[in-house]
Amino acid sequence: MTTTKQASATAARLYGNELKYVTEVIDSEFRSSKGSGMMRRLEEAFAERFDAKYAISFVNGTATMHAALEAYGIGPGDEVIVPPLTMSATTFAVLQANATPVFADVDADTFQISAESIAARITPKTRAIITVALYGMSPDMDAIMALAKQHNLFVIEDNAQCFLGKYKGKIVGTLGHCASFSFQSSKHLSSGEGGMIITDDIELAEKIRKVQSLGYAGVGATKAKITKKDIQDPYYSRHVTMGWNYRIPELCAAVALAQVENIEPLVQTRVDAAALFTNAAKGFDWFKPQFVGPEYVNTYWTWVARLDHTDITWHEFRDRFVELGGDGVYAAWKLTYLEPMFETMNLLGREDFISAENRAQYKPGLCPVAERIAPRLLQFKTNYWNLADAERQAEILRATLQSFEK
Ligand SMILES: Cc1ncc(COP(=O)(O)O)c(C=O)c1O
Repeated sequence: MTTTKQASATAARLYGNELKYVTEVIDSEFRSSKGSGMMRRLEEAFAERFDAKYAISFVNGTATMHAALEAYGIGPGDEVIVPPLTMSATTFAVLQANATPVFADVDADTFQISAESIAARITPKTRAIITVALYGMSPDMDAIMALAKQHNLFVIEDNAQCFLGKYKGKIVGTLGHCASFSFQSSKHLSSGEGGMIITDDIELAEKIRKVQSLGYAGVGATKAKITKKDIQDPYYSRHVTMGWNYRIPELCAAVALAQVENIEPLVQTRVDAAALFTNAAKGFDWFKPQFVGPEYVNTYWTWVARLDHTDITWHEFRDRFVELGGDGVYAAWKLTYLEPMFETMNLLGREDFISAENRAQYKPGLCPVAERIAPRLLQFKTNYWNLADAERQAEILRATLQSFEK
């Protein structure tokens, strides 16, 4: 039975069919003959909910993007444009494919990768762009897709932080050539670890599946597992390409399936909490919440504001919020190209594929807007399963803001 009650009213995150489906997997003893088929059931449910023709599940939301790049044939010498203000997995996927990450700057108000900066980074070696729907909101995808069309670039949407966001009326995830999602524990939907790719392109879906499942001949866009019958032949040719075992474990797929069934309340809980924070922050011109344009629906993986007050440090603000009873605030990530691995070029051999010219870019000054705003961003959690807790936190935010005006 699918539970439809509001997540926020239950003070719980896993309140639907999670246990039931996990039990089905246990009862199947992981035998394909008894088969609970959770992986495939999850893919069908996800594709349907996201209005996509194909959904391919993964072990996490980094393997997804690596697989998409491999499936598209991206490798040594190819440049892939990414934002630097994001969780580093976006860039890791590019490095895992032996390609070169090229960093484009972000917009100071939406915090999203900007089409203008992408345009300035395109070279004859550029083959792809990975956009990130940062904090739960899409970048300006029309402008980015126009550039992609003009320069024949492959676009992966990294939507690890965005489930059921909207851009100009469309579901975020249906805008690029394919889109990646993560079920890591902090995300809107979670099975601890896990990931998904959606696409409408059958050829791409076939290739992504092969990369996800050891290049097996017997798997395809909508076929998640090889069948026993296929392999009852000593001359059976299994591997038509190289691949990885990037399959989601059945136990995680069971939990993720139940989470997909409850996706609306799970997302709405965060949106409701964010609305309280937005309201509490009104009237302080030195504290700027992420700007959400009229054609965007933000799903608020986290609620984020930029501290513009020149006399208050990030730590002072955080400490005051905590002193007044706040749950704690997260800092944005250090920009990826400023991480030590780029300074030392310790990329486990991938550095050999990166030209001297590209290597020289990985230093301060590359993305001035991101460098200016990232250390001023305050990320507030939105995953309050009881809205009363979020209300209290929003009031503490208001009190914190007021305390600096006294
Ligand atoms: C924007 C972004 N991309 C990719 C990932 C990677 O997902 P995973 O942890 O499932 O590999 C994450 C989060 O973990 C993320 O926030």
